[in-house]
Amino acid sequence: MSSDVLRVRRAPRLETEIVVPGDKSISHRAIMLAALSNGVCKITNFLEGEDCLSTIKAFQQLGVTIERPDTGLVVVYGSHGKLIAPEGDIDCGNSGTTMRLLSGVLAAQPFATRLIGDDSLSKRPMRRIIEPLTQMGASITALGANDCAPLVIRGGPLHSITYSPPMASAQVKSAILFAGLSADGVTTVIEPSPSRDHTERMLEYFLVKLRREEVRPGRGRKSQEYRVSMLGQQQIESRDFAVPGDISSAAFWLVTAACQPGSCLLVKNVGLNPTRTGILDVLVRMGARIREVVESVEEGEPSGVIDIKGDSLTGTIIEGSEVPNVIDELPILAVAGALAEGRTIIRDAKELRFKETDRIAAIAANLRAMGVEVQEADDGMTIYGGGKLNGATLPSFGDHRIAMAFAIAGLFASGSTIVEDVGCIRTSYPQFESILMHLQRGDRTLRHPTPVISSLVGKRRTFRSFLK
Ligand code: S3P
Repeated sequence: MSSDVLRVRRAPRLETEIVVPGDKSISHRAIMLAALSNGVCKITNFLEGEDCLSTIKAFQQLGVTIERPDTGLVVVYGSHGKLIAPEGDIDCGNSGTTMRLLSGVLAAQPFATRLIGDDSLSKRPMRRIIEPLTQMGASITALGANDCAPLVIRGGPLHSITYSPPMASAQVKSAILFAGLSADGVTTVIEPSPSRDHTERMLEYFLVKLRREEVRPGRGRKSQEYRVSMLGQQQIESRDFAVPGDISSAAFWLVTAACQPGSCLLVKNVGLNPTRTGILDVLVRMGARIREVVESVEEGEPSGVIDIKGDSLTGTIIEGSEVPNVIDELPILAVAGALAEGRTIIRDAKELRFKETDRIAAIAANLRAMGVEVQEADDGMTIYGGGKLNGATLPSFGDHRIAMAFAIAGLFASGSTIVEDVGCIRTSYPQFESILMHLQRGDRTLRHPTPVISSLVGKRRTFRSFLK
Protein backbone atom coordinates (compact mmCIF):
# COMPACT_ATOMS: atom_id res chain seq x y z
CA MET A 1 0.00 0.00 0.00
CA SER A 2 1.59 3.25 -1.06
CA SER A 3 -0.33 5.61 1.21
CA ASP A 4 -2.15 5.48 4.49
CA VAL A 5 -5.41 6.88 3.11
CA LEU A 6 -7.44 5.82 0.10
CA ARG A 7 -9.18 8.49 -1.97
CA VAL A 8 -12.02 7.13 -4.04
CA ARG A 9 -14.52 8.68 -6.42
CA ARG A 10 -17.36 7.39 -8.56
CA ALA A 11 -16.16 4.77 -11.03
CA PRO A 12 -17.21 3.79 -14.54
CA ARG A 13 -18.93 0.47 -15.22
CA LEU A 14 -16.84 -2.59 -14.60
CA GLU A 15 -16.08 -4.76 -17.60
CA THR A 16 -13.07 -6.88 -16.93
CA GLU A 17 -11.60 -10.08 -15.63
CA ILE A 18 -9.55 -10.47 -12.53
CA VAL A 19 -7.44 -12.93 -10.57
CA VAL A 20 -7.43 -12.56 -6.80
CA PRO A 21 -4.53 -13.54 -4.52
CA GLY A 22 -4.39 -16.83 -2.61
CA ASP A 23 -6.95 -17.64 0.05
CA LYS A 24 -5.98 -16.41 3.52
CA SER A 25 -7.56 -19.25 5.54
CA ILE A 26 -6.06 -21.88 3.25
CA SER A 27 -2.60 -20.23 3.17
CA HIS A 28 -2.39 -20.34 6.99
CA ARG A 29 -3.42 -23.99 7.10
CA ALA A 30 -1.06 -24.97 4.27
CA ILE A 31 1.91 -23.66 6.28
CA MET A 32 0.73 -25.34 9.49
CA LEU A 33 0.08 -28.75 7.93
CA ALA A 34 3.29 -28.66 5.91
CA ALA A 35 5.28 -27.63 9.01
CA LEU A 36 3.92 -30.63 10.94
CA SER A 37 4.30 -33.07 8.03
CA ASN A 38 6.99 -35.67 7.43
CA GLY A 39 8.79 -34.13 4.46
CA VAL A 40 9.16 -31.24 2.04
CA CYS A 41 6.03 -29.43 0.79
CA LYS A 42 5.92 -26.84 -1.97
CA ILE A 43 3.05 -24.36 -1.57
CA THR A 44 2.12 -22.23 -4.58
CA ASN A 45 -0.08 -19.12 -4.82
CA PHE A 46 0.50 -18.53 -1.10
CA LEU A 47 -1.05 -15.25 0.10
CA GLU A 48 1.79 -12.89 0.99
CA GLY A 49 -0.40 -10.79 3.29
CA GLU A 50 0.85 -9.85 6.74
CA ASP A 51 -1.44 -12.33 8.52
CA CYS A 52 -0.10 -15.35 6.68
CA LEU A 53 3.47 -14.05 6.97
CA SER A 54 2.91 -14.04 10.76
CA THR A 55 2.17 -17.76 10.52
CA ILE A 56 5.37 -18.38 8.55
CA LYS A 57 7.45 -16.41 11.08
CA ALA A 58 5.85 -18.28 13.97
CA PHE A 59 6.80 -21.68 12.57
CA GLN A 60 10.31 -20.46 11.72
CA GLN A 61 10.68 -19.44 15.37
CA LEU A 62 9.50 -22.93 16.29
CA GLY A 63 12.42 -24.42 14.37
CA VAL A 64 10.81 -25.18 11.01
CA THR A 65 12.82 -24.33 7.89
CA ILE A 66 10.64 -22.33 5.53
CA GLU A 67 11.95 -20.75 2.33
CA ARG A 68 10.29 -18.25 -0.01
CA PRO A 69 12.27 -18.58 -3.24
CA ASP A 70 9.76 -16.73 -5.41
CA THR A 71 6.56 -14.68 -5.22
CA GLY A 72 3.75 -16.90 -3.92
CA LEU A 73 6.05 -19.92 -3.62
CA VAL A 74 6.85 -21.31 -0.18
CA VAL A 75 8.92 -24.41 0.54
CA VAL A 76 8.36 -25.95 3.97
CA TYR A 77 10.58 -28.65 5.46
CA GLY A 78 8.23 -30.65 7.68
CA SER A 79 9.19 -31.21 11.32
CA HIS A 80 7.46 -34.62 11.77
CA GLY A 81 5.31 -32.83 14.36
CA LYS A 82 8.30 -31.99 16.59
CA LEU A 83 8.75 -28.27 17.11
CA ILE A 84 11.38 -26.62 19.27
CA ALA A 85 10.92 -24.01 22.00
CA PRO A 86 11.07 -20.51 20.45
CA GLU A 87 13.37 -17.76 21.62
CA GLY A 88 11.20 -14.90 22.80
CA ASP A 89 7.52 -14.27 22.19
CA ILE A 90 5.72 -15.30 19.02
CA ASP A 91 4.03 -12.24 17.54
CA CYS A 92 0.78 -13.14 15.76
CA GLY A 93 0.30 -9.52 14.66
CA ASN A 94 -3.33 -8.89 13.70
CA SER A 95 -4.07 -12.51 12.90
CA GLY A 96 -6.71 -14.35 14.93
CA THR A 97 -6.26 -17.43 12.74
CA THR A 98 -2.53 -17.57 13.57
CA MET A 99 -3.10 -17.20 17.31
CA ARG A 100 -6.03 -19.59 17.65
CA LEU A 101 -4.85 -22.38 15.34
CA LEU A 102 -1.28 -22.15 16.59
CA SER A 103 -2.59 -22.52 20.16
CA GLY A 104 -4.00 -25.90 19.10
CA VAL A 105 -0.61 -26.92 17.70
CA LEU A 106 1.31 -25.70 20.76
CA ALA A 107 -1.08 -27.46 23.15
CA ALA A 108 0.75 -30.69 22.26
CA GLN A 109 4.34 -29.41 22.30
CA PRO A 110 6.41 -30.12 25.43
CA PHE A 111 7.48 -26.52 26.15
CA ALA A 112 6.04 -23.12 27.05
CA THR A 113 5.38 -20.40 24.45
CA ARG A 114 4.08 -16.87 24.84
CA LEU A 115 1.82 -15.64 22.03
CA ILE A 116 1.31 -11.91 21.61
CA GLY A 117 -0.63 -9.79 19.12
CA ASP A 118 -1.33 -6.21 18.15
CA ASP A 119 -3.87 -4.02 20.00
CA SER A 120 -6.82 -5.42 18.05
CA LEU A 121 -5.83 -9.07 18.50
CA SER A 122 -5.14 -8.44 22.18
CA LYS A 123 -8.82 -7.54 22.63
CA ARG A 124 -10.28 -10.59 20.86
CA PRO A 125 -11.85 -13.41 22.87
CA MET A 126 -9.58 -16.39 23.56
CA ARG A 127 -11.71 -18.21 26.17
CA ARG A 128 -13.27 -20.07 23.23
CA ILE A 129 -10.01 -21.94 22.57
CA ILE A 130 -8.61 -21.92 26.11
CA GLU A 131 -11.60 -23.92 27.35
CA PRO A 132 -11.38 -26.95 25.01
CA LEU A 133 -7.56 -27.03 24.87
CA THR A 134 -7.41 -27.00 28.68
CA GLN A 135 -9.91 -29.86 28.77
CA MET A 136 -7.53 -31.78 26.49
CA GLY A 137 -4.69 -31.33 29.00
CA ALA A 138 -2.83 -28.17 27.95
CA SER A 139 -2.10 -25.39 30.41
CA ILE A 140 -3.00 -21.96 29.03
CA THR A 141 -2.81 -18.70 30.90
CA ALA A 142 -4.32 -15.55 29.41
CA LEU A 143 -2.31 -12.56 30.63
CA GLY A 144 -4.68 -9.92 29.19
CA ALA A 145 -7.95 -8.76 30.73
CA ASN A 146 -11.07 -10.86 30.00
CA ASP A 147 -9.07 -13.96 28.95
CA CYS A 148 -7.35 -12.11 26.14
CA ALA A 149 -3.78 -12.35 24.83
CA PRO A 150 -0.91 -12.53 25.65
CA LEU A 151 -1.35 -16.29 26.04
CA VAL A 152 1.18 -18.52 27.73
CA ILE A 153 0.75 -22.08 26.49
CA ARG A 154 2.44 -25.02 28.20
CA GLY A 155 1.82 -28.07 26.08
CA GLY A 156 2.18 -31.76 26.77
CA PRO A 157 0.46 -35.10 26.29
CA LEU A 158 -3.18 -34.56 25.32
CA HIS A 159 -6.30 -36.65 25.52
CA SER A 160 -9.18 -36.52 23.09
CA ILE A 161 -12.46 -34.77 23.82
CA THR A 162 -15.90 -34.41 22.33
CA TYR A 163 -16.63 -30.71 22.27
CA SER A 164 -19.55 -28.54 21.17
CA PRO A 165 -18.43 -24.92 20.78
CA PRO A 166 -21.30 -22.54 21.50
CA MET A 167 -20.67 -20.71 18.22
CA ALA A 168 -19.92 -21.92 14.67
CA SER A 169 -16.25 -21.02 14.44
CA ALA A 170 -13.73 -22.56 12.07
CA GLN A 171 -10.93 -21.18 14.21
CA VAL A 172 -12.18 -22.95 17.33
CA LYS A 173 -12.90 -26.18 15.44
CA SER A 174 -9.46 -26.06 13.82
CA ALA A 175 -7.61 -25.36 17.08
CA ILE A 176 -9.23 -28.48 18.57
CA LEU A 177 -8.44 -30.58 15.48
CA PHE A 178 -4.81 -29.46 15.46
CA ALA A 179 -4.52 -30.45 19.12
CA GLY A 180 -6.46 -33.66 18.41
CA LEU A 181 -3.78 -34.68 15.91
CA SER A 182 -1.51 -35.45 18.88
CA ALA A 183 -4.14 -36.68 21.35
CA ASP A 184 -4.85 -40.26 22.27
CA GLY A 185 -8.27 -41.47 21.10
CA VAL A 186 -10.90 -39.84 18.92
CA THR A 187 -11.46 -36.07 19.05
CA THR A 188 -14.91 -34.89 17.98
CA VAL A 189 -16.12 -31.33 17.34
CA ILE A 190 -19.86 -30.75 17.06
CA GLU A 191 -20.98 -27.47 15.49
CA PRO A 192 -24.44 -25.88 15.50
CA SER A 193 -24.07 -24.72 11.88
CA PRO A 194 -21.30 -25.55 9.45
CA SER A 195 -18.28 -23.23 9.54
CA ARG A 196 -15.68 -23.21 6.77
CA ASP A 197 -14.22 -26.69 6.39
CA HIS A 198 -10.71 -26.04 5.03
CA THR A 199 -9.00 -27.77 7.94
CA GLU A 200 -10.99 -30.96 7.38
CA ARG A 201 -10.46 -30.95 3.60
CA MET A 202 -6.77 -30.17 3.91
CA LEU A 203 -6.17 -32.77 6.63
CA GLU A 204 -7.72 -35.33 4.29
CA TYR A 205 -5.55 -34.08 1.43
CA PHE A 206 -2.49 -34.53 3.67
CA LEU A 207 -3.76 -38.12 4.19
CA VAL A 208 -5.17 -37.79 7.70
CA LYS A 209 -8.38 -39.82 8.10
CA LEU A 210 -11.49 -38.02 9.36
CA ARG A 211 -15.15 -38.77 9.70
CA ARG A 212 -17.69 -36.04 8.92
CA GLU A 213 -21.41 -36.33 9.63
CA GLU A 214 -24.48 -34.17 9.36
CA VAL A 215 -26.77 -35.43 12.13
CA ARG A 216 -30.46 -34.64 11.71
CA PRO A 217 -32.70 -33.61 14.61
CA GLY A 218 -34.40 -36.40 16.55
CA ARG A 219 -33.96 -38.57 19.64
CA GLY A 220 -33.74 -35.62 21.99
CA ARG A 221 -31.70 -33.52 19.55
CA LYS A 222 -33.62 -30.34 18.65
CA SER A 223 -31.55 -29.13 15.72
CA GLN A 224 -29.15 -30.36 13.08
CA GLU A 225 -25.52 -30.96 14.12
CA TYR A 226 -22.30 -30.99 12.12
CA ARG A 227 -19.71 -33.39 13.50
CA VAL A 228 -16.12 -34.04 12.63
CA SER A 229 -14.17 -36.85 14.34
CA MET A 230 -10.52 -37.74 14.01
CA LEU A 231 -8.33 -40.41 15.56
CA GLY A 232 -5.20 -38.86 17.06
CA GLN A 233 -1.54 -39.63 16.40
CA GLN A 234 -1.88 -39.91 12.67
CA GLN A 235 0.99 -38.94 10.40
CA ILE A 236 0.60 -35.85 8.19
CA GLU A 237 2.08 -36.90 4.85
CA SER A 238 4.01 -34.16 3.06
CA ARG A 239 2.45 -33.05 -0.23
CA ASP A 240 2.59 -30.06 -2.54
CA PHE A 241 -0.38 -27.76 -2.42
CA ALA A 242 -1.73 -25.00 -4.70
CA VAL A 243 -3.77 -22.35 -2.87
CA PRO A 244 -6.87 -21.20 -4.79
CA GLY A 245 -7.78 -17.49 -4.98
CA ASP A 246 -9.58 -15.94 -2.03
CA ILE A 247 -13.34 -15.54 -2.56
CA SER A 248 -13.36 -13.11 0.40
CA SER A 249 -11.02 -10.83 -1.58
CA ALA A 250 -13.05 -11.39 -4.76
CA ALA A 251 -16.12 -10.32 -2.76
CA PHE A 252 -15.20 -6.62 -3.07
CA TRP A 253 -15.17 -6.77 -6.89
CA LEU A 254 -18.18 -9.09 -7.05
CA VAL A 255 -20.25 -6.52 -5.15
CA THR A 256 -18.84 -3.68 -7.28
CA ALA A 257 -20.02 -5.50 -10.41
CA ALA A 258 -23.32 -6.70 -8.90
CA CYS A 259 -24.43 -3.20 -7.92
CA GLN A 260 -23.88 -1.58 -11.34
CA PRO A 261 -26.40 -2.50 -14.03
CA GLY A 262 -24.45 -3.33 -17.18
CA SER A 263 -21.23 -4.28 -15.39
CA CYS A 264 -19.70 -7.67 -15.94
CA LEU A 265 -16.79 -9.33 -14.26
CA LEU A 266 -15.04 -12.66 -14.56
CA VAL A 267 -13.04 -13.85 -11.54
CA LYS A 268 -10.61 -16.64 -12.39
CA ASN A 269 -8.93 -19.31 -10.25
CA VAL A 270 -11.01 -18.52 -7.20
CA GLY A 271 -11.84 -20.90 -4.35
CA LEU A 272 -15.40 -22.25 -4.61
CA ASN A 273 -15.59 -24.25 -1.40
CA PRO A 274 -19.35 -24.39 -0.62
CA THR A 275 -18.70 -23.29 2.97
CA ARG A 276 -17.44 -19.98 1.51
CA THR A 277 -19.69 -19.26 -1.48
CA GLY A 278 -22.69 -17.95 0.47
CA ILE A 279 -21.98 -14.50 -0.96
CA LEU A 280 -23.04 -15.80 -4.39
CA ASP A 281 -26.40 -16.99 -3.01
CA VAL A 282 -26.95 -13.63 -1.33
CA LEU A 283 -26.11 -11.62 -4.47
CA VAL A 284 -28.34 -13.83 -6.63
CA ARG A 285 -31.21 -13.27 -4.17
CA MET A 286 -30.56 -9.54 -4.49
CA GLY A 287 -30.83 -9.72 -8.28
CA ALA A 288 -27.30 -10.21 -9.64
CA ARG A 289 -26.79 -12.78 -12.38
CA ILE A 290 -24.00 -15.20 -11.55
CA ARG A 291 -22.50 -18.30 -13.05
CA GLU A 292 -20.03 -20.31 -11.01
CA VAL A 293 -18.02 -23.11 -12.60
CA VAL A 294 -15.92 -25.54 -10.59
CA GLU A 295 -12.88 -26.37 -12.71
CA SER A 296 -10.77 -28.30 -10.24
CA VAL A 297 -11.10 -30.17 -6.97
CA GLU A 298 -7.73 -31.80 -7.27
CA GLU A 299 -6.36 -30.86 -3.88
CA GLY A 300 -9.58 -31.20 -1.96
CA GLU A 301 -10.52 -27.55 -2.41
CA PRO A 302 -12.85 -26.73 -5.31
CA SER A 303 -11.80 -23.79 -7.46
CA GLY A 304 -12.89 -22.27 -10.74
CA VAL A 305 -14.45 -19.14 -12.16
CA ILE A 306 -17.23 -16.78 -11.20
CA ASP A 307 -18.94 -14.80 -13.92
CA ILE A 308 -21.17 -11.98 -12.67
CA LYS A 309 -23.40 -9.36 -14.27
CA GLY A 310 -24.76 -6.39 -12.38
CA ASP A 311 -28.36 -5.25 -12.14
CA SER A 312 -30.60 -3.12 -9.94
CA LEU A 313 -30.49 -5.00 -6.67
CA THR A 314 -33.15 -5.38 -4.00
CA GLY A 315 -32.63 -5.91 -0.27
CA THR A 316 -32.51 -9.33 1.37
CA ILE A 317 -32.34 -11.07 4.74
CA ILE A 318 -29.12 -12.77 5.86
CA GLU A 319 -29.62 -14.95 8.94
CA GLY A 320 -29.24 -18.36 10.56
CA SER A 321 -26.88 -20.95 9.15
CA GLU A 322 -26.00 -18.73 6.18
CA VAL A 323 -24.17 -16.33 8.52
CA PRO A 324 -20.98 -18.38 9.16
CA ASN A 325 -20.67 -18.88 5.40
CA VAL A 326 -20.61 -15.13 4.73
CA ILE A 327 -19.12 -13.93 8.02
CA ASP A 328 -16.16 -12.15 6.39
CA GLU A 329 -18.30 -10.79 3.55
CA LEU A 330 -20.89 -9.06 5.74
CA PRO A 331 -19.16 -5.63 5.63
CA ILE A 332 -19.21 -5.55 1.82
CA LEU A 333 -22.69 -7.14 1.70
CA ALA A 334 -23.89 -4.34 3.99
CA VAL A 335 -22.58 -1.89 1.39
CA ALA A 336 -24.52 -3.85 -1.28
CA GLY A 337 -27.57 -3.54 0.99
CA ALA A 338 -27.16 0.25 1.12
CA LEU A 339 -27.08 0.36 -2.68
CA ALA A 340 -30.06 -1.99 -3.12
CA GLU A 341 -33.72 -0.93 -3.09
CA GLY A 342 -35.55 -1.64 0.17
CA ARG A 343 -34.39 -3.16 3.45
CA THR A 344 -31.48 -5.51 4.02
CA ILE A 345 -31.58 -7.30 7.36
CA ILE A 346 -28.57 -9.02 8.92
CA ARG A 347 -29.29 -11.06 12.05
CA ASP A 348 -27.73 -13.94 14.06
CA ALA A 349 -24.35 -12.30 13.41
CA LYS A 350 -23.19 -11.34 16.90
CA GLU A 351 -19.79 -12.86 16.01
CA LEU A 352 -19.20 -9.71 13.95
CA ARG A 353 -18.69 -7.85 17.22
CA PHE A 354 -15.56 -9.98 17.91
CA LYS A 355 -13.67 -9.53 14.66
CA GLU A 356 -10.70 -7.22 14.03
CA THR A 357 -13.04 -4.49 15.27
CA ASP A 358 -16.71 -4.52 16.31
CA ARG A 359 -17.88 -4.75 12.71
CA ILE A 360 -21.55 -4.11 13.51
CA ALA A 361 -20.71 -0.76 15.10
CA ALA A 362 -18.13 0.08 12.41
CA ILE A 363 -20.44 -0.69 9.46
CA ALA A 364 -23.33 1.23 11.04
CA ALA A 365 -21.14 4.27 11.80
CA ASN A 366 -19.64 4.45 8.30
CA LEU A 367 -22.92 3.86 6.46
CA ARG A 368 -24.56 6.61 8.53
CA ALA A 369 -21.66 8.94 7.74
CA MET A 370 -22.48 8.34 4.06
CA GLY A 371 -26.13 9.26 4.65
CA VAL A 372 -27.65 5.76 4.94
CA GLU A 373 -30.26 4.95 7.57
CA VAL A 374 -29.17 1.99 9.69
CA GLN A 375 -30.76 0.42 12.73
CA GLU A 376 -28.23 -1.44 14.82
CA ALA A 377 -29.16 -4.61 16.76
CA ASP A 378 -27.10 -6.67 19.17
CA ASP A 379 -26.64 -9.38 16.52
CA GLY A 380 -26.87 -7.43 13.29
CA MET A 381 -28.56 -4.48 11.64
CA THR A 382 -31.26 -3.28 9.30
CA ILE A 383 -30.06 -1.16 6.39
CA TYR A 384 -32.55 1.05 4.55
CA GLY A 385 -31.12 1.02 1.04
CA GLY A 386 -31.78 2.73 -2.23
CA GLY A 387 -30.90 6.30 -1.27
CA LYS A 388 -27.87 8.22 -2.48
CA LEU A 389 -24.50 7.61 -0.85
CA ASN A 390 -22.61 10.77 0.05
CA GLY A 391 -18.84 10.84 -0.10
CA ALA A 392 -17.30 11.17 3.36
CA THR A 393 -14.08 10.80 5.31
CA LEU A 394 -14.32 7.46 7.05
CA PRO A 395 -12.18 5.61 9.59
CA SER A 396 -11.10 2.04 8.85
CA PHE A 397 -11.18 1.16 12.56
CA GLY A 398 -7.87 -0.61 11.78
CA ASP A 399 -9.90 -3.39 10.14
CA HIS A 400 -8.92 -4.50 6.62
CA ARG A 401 -12.41 -5.59 5.59
CA ILE A 402 -14.03 -2.35 6.82
CA ALA A 403 -11.38 -0.34 4.94
CA MET A 404 -11.95 -2.24 1.67
CA ALA A 405 -15.75 -2.34 1.96
CA PHE A 406 -15.94 1.44 2.37
CA ALA A 407 -13.43 2.09 -0.40
CA ILE A 408 -15.90 0.20 -2.63
CA ALA A 409 -18.81 2.23 -1.19
CA GLY A 410 -16.86 5.32 -2.33
CA LEU A 411 -17.05 4.08 -5.94
CA PHE A 412 -20.84 4.63 -5.75
CA ALA A 413 -20.90 7.86 -3.72
CA SER A 414 -21.22 11.47 -4.78
CA GLY A 415 -18.06 13.54 -4.41
CA SER A 416 -14.98 11.92 -3.00
CA THR A 417 -14.61 9.41 -0.21
CA ILE A 418 -11.50 9.14 1.91
CA VAL A 419 -10.84 5.98 3.91
CA GLU A 420 -8.24 6.61 6.59
CA ASP A 421 -5.63 4.33 8.10
CA VAL A 422 -5.74 1.73 5.35
CA GLY A 423 -2.38 0.07 6.11
CA CYS A 424 -4.46 -2.74 7.64
CA ILE A 425 -5.43 -3.87 4.11
CA ARG A 426 -1.96 -5.39 3.82
CA THR A 427 -3.04 -8.12 6.25
CA SER A 428 -5.20 -9.84 3.62
CA TYR A 429 -5.03 -8.11 0.23
CA PRO A 430 -1.81 -6.16 -0.48
CA GLN A 431 -2.79 -5.59 -4.15
CA PHE A 432 -6.22 -4.09 -3.34
CA GLU A 433 -5.27 -0.45 -3.86
CA SER A 434 -3.62 -0.95 -7.24
CA ILE A 435 -6.62 -2.91 -8.57
CA LEU A 436 -9.00 -0.30 -7.20
CA MET A 437 -7.07 2.44 -8.98
CA HIS A 438 -7.10 0.46 -12.27
CA LEU A 439 -10.86 -0.05 -12.07
CA GLN A 440 -11.52 3.51 -11.02
CA ARG A 441 -9.69 4.79 -14.09
CA GLY A 442 -12.00 2.62 -16.19
CA ASP A 443 -8.83 0.90 -17.33
CA ARG A 444 -9.78 -1.90 -19.68
CA THR A 445 -6.32 -3.41 -19.71
CA LEU A 446 -7.58 -6.16 -17.45
CA ARG A 447 -10.36 -6.89 -19.90
CA HIS A 448 -10.33 -10.16 -21.80
CA PRO A 449 -12.89 -10.57 -24.57
CA THR A 450 -12.63 -14.39 -24.81
CA PRO A 451 -16.14 -15.83 -24.50
CA VAL A 452 -16.26 -17.41 -21.08
CA ILE A 453 -18.28 -20.39 -22.14
CA SER A 454 -15.66 -21.72 -24.58
CA SER A 455 -13.21 -22.39 -21.78
CA LEU A 456 -15.79 -24.25 -19.77
CA VAL A 457 -16.77 -27.02 -22.16
CA GLY A 458 -16.60 -30.43 -20.53
CA LYS A 459 -16.31 -29.12 -16.98
CA ARG A 460 -18.78 -29.35 -14.17
CA ARG A 461 -20.99 -26.27 -14.00
CA THR A 462 -22.96 -24.93 -11.13
CA PHE A 463 -25.38 -22.30 -12.31
CA ARG A 464 -26.46 -19.94 -9.59
CA SER A 465 -28.62 -18.02 -11.97
CA PHE A 466 -28.42 -18.05 -15.73
CA LEU A 467 -26.70 -15.21 -17.44
CA LYS A 468 -28.83 -13.76 -20.21
C1 S3P B 1 -11.28 -18.01 9.75
C2 S3P B 1 -12.48 -18.21 10.34
C3 S3P B 1 -13.44 -17.13 10.60
C4 S3P B 1 -13.13 -15.90 9.78
C5 S3P B 1 -11.69 -15.55 9.79
C6 S3P B 1 -10.85 -16.69 9.26
C7 S3P B 1 -10.37 -19.17 9.57
O1 S3P B 1 -13.37 -16.78 11.99
O2 S3P B 1 -13.90 -14.81 10.24
O3 S3P B 1 -11.44 -14.41 8.99
O4 S3P B 1 -9.40 -19.07 8.80
O5 S3P B 1 -10.63 -20.20 10.19
P1 S3P B 1 -14.19 -17.61 13.11
O6 S3P B 1 -13.76 -19.00 13.02
O7 S3P B 1 -13.81 -16.97 14.40
O8 S3P B 1 -15.63 -17.41 12.76
